[in-house]
Amino acid sequence: LRESTPVRFDEDRESWDVFRYEDVHRILKDPATFSSRRGLEVRGETLLTMDQPKHTHMRNLVNKAFTPKAINDLAPRITSITHDLLDQVLSKGQMDIVHDLATPLPVIVIAELLGVPSKDRKLFKDWSDTLVKGVEGNSQEAFAKMVAERDVAVRELSEYFRAILAERRSKPEDDLVSALLEAEIDGEKLEEDEILQFCILLLVAGNETTTNLITNAIRLMTEQPAIQEQVRTHPELVKTTVEETLRYYPPIVAIGRVATEDVEIGGQQIQKGQQVVSWVGSANRDPDKFEDPDTFLPDRKPNAHMGFGFGIHFCLGAPLARLEGQIALEILLSKLGDMQFTKSKLSPIPSPFVFGVKSYPIT
Ligand code: HEM
Repeated sequence: LRESTPVRFDEDRESWDVFRYEDVHRILKDPATFSSRRGLEVRGETLLTMDQPKHTHMRNLVNKAFTPKAINDLAPRITSITHDLLDQVLSKGQMDIVHDLATPLPVIVIAELLGVPSKDRKLFKDWSDTLVKGVEGNSQEAFAKMVAERDVAVRELSEYFRAILAERRSKPEDDLVSALLEAEIDGEKLEEDEILQFCILLLVAGNETTTNLITNAIRLMTEQPAIQEQVRTHPELVKTTVEETLRYYPPIVAIGRVATEDVEIGGQQIQKGQQVVSWVGSANRDPDKFEDPDTFLPDRKPNAHMGFGFGIHFCLGAPLARLEGQIALEILLSKLGDMQFTKSKLSPIPSPFVFGVKSYPIT
């Protein structure tokens, strides 16, 4: 498709598909022409669906709390949570990467970052699962059920965080919620509802994606055992291996925008108001940008993949996702012997925009 129809209109979905690196890059770089307000803001606007100048203001404020230092300080905790999770299953001789490590790790980390006490962890995980759960089946009823369940989860989570916010307002602690309450630019602070929306966005944007990053990295290691061996004997390659996973098997394969004016891309005329889907999964394998794009190179450099997007909406959680991915991979490679997938069939997540599997048992 990238070669034959690099920009094409999908009649069924009534949206444009864009496959080439150069075109995807241009779209993500130009938020004035390609808006993030996709008309999907059922539960109110979030950072992800805002345009400038509102986006810039909000992003600057949350950046004050979500700093690289705050993230780096989490490394020892991420390491110890990973060891704890593995210790619970390793004696069995086999484990499911998705269920036993890649799902719980990001949920526990984000819960701790937000200051959710460990006694509420289960509650928190259930809400988080409901928020990312897809539709079961393709009937109208199934869709309505999913929307209703999500609404309940959002309401309960909002009430829960409102109580945490009230506590932190009177007694600040060393957590993200306290930092968000304090963040200030030119005398302006975040409103309570904005903080609530943001906390919920972190769950939606950060958990399943990180789960898939860790799982996709292990999947690659089992599909290409020579690479597993290479990275095990050269742990200094873990960092670039995680980047290469984000290029080769990106957890998010497509990013949506809406044209704000008539515009030409790749010789095609896109009209104002039309949806445009940027296929990052394809752009990341574009031979015009990457040498030997279908080969996984654990030491690929440079690696300008767009697995975390590009431009003003570039993933805010990228430093956290990278850190979790690196720590998980490093520990798995050092603790486990040769990892092998125990099934013959994969169980893909049924979403055109997400690349991952529901389960990945290994020995
Ligand atoms: C934005 C991917 C992990 C929070 C994005 C975007 C992508 C992405 C592609 C851009 C969307 C767009 O342009 O419309 C990923 C991947 C992850 C990951 C592949 C894991 C491997 C996380 C984590 C968090 C997070 C761990 C937070 C805890 C966000 C937020 C945005 C975002 C808040 C919106 C930023 C903005 O609009 O300014 N992510 N993400 N993500 N991500 Fe991530």
